[in-house]
Amino acid sequence: MLDSYANTIKTGGIRVNSPASSKIYSSLNSSRERMPPPPMSALNDADKASILKWIQQGAKNLTCDGVCDSTQTSFKSNILPILTLQCKGCHSGTAASGGGILLSTYAEIKKYADNGALLGSLVHAIGYSAMPKNGKLPDCDISKIRSWIRQGKLNN
Ligand code: HEC
Repeated sequence: MLDSYANTIKTGGIRVNSPASSKIYSSLNSSRERMPPPPMSALNDADKASILKWIQQGAKNLTCDGVCDSTQTSFKSNILPILTLQCKGCHSGTAASGGGILLSTYAEIKKYADNGALLGSLVHAIGYSAMPKNGKLPDCDISKIRSWIRQGKLNN
């Protein structure tokens, strides 16, 4: 389903490192399973370009005017999608690429929120490995995670 930001990230096959191959974008041009399916007409080029641009800019969860709404701190709707998109690739399963640190479930994530490493790594604080490995999350994402921690790290 693509009815919310969280579900779009989950089922849209978003690939920030290879935006054009994201399922949500490639399906717009697919000859076999085009979305939306015929008889509905395909999206126009401008709309397709907007979707591609959104993914290229990091598939962020912004309000329409592009302003950060750091009050959006629901674990399931706001926090988990950020970590799923930016961190889970290395920090899940048996892959050694995350140094044995797992960040896919609430319990796993809360553990690193509790010991300070989650925020420490995101703000590139001294004493922590800077995360994600290839850069820094947008300020808006970090604000949401910080608010979620301050508000008691709810599983909501
Ligand atoms: C490309 C792989 C990769 C990605 C993407 C990645 N990490 Fe990591 N992370 C690692 C590795 C490897 C380590 C082990 C320590 C090291 O090598 O720096 C690590 C360590 C950590 C630690 C422990 C840091 C410490 O100093 O104790 C935390 C917390 C963490 N990552 C959180 C995150 C978060 C949050 C994200 C997403 C925003 C993320 N990581 C994205 C590979 C990655």
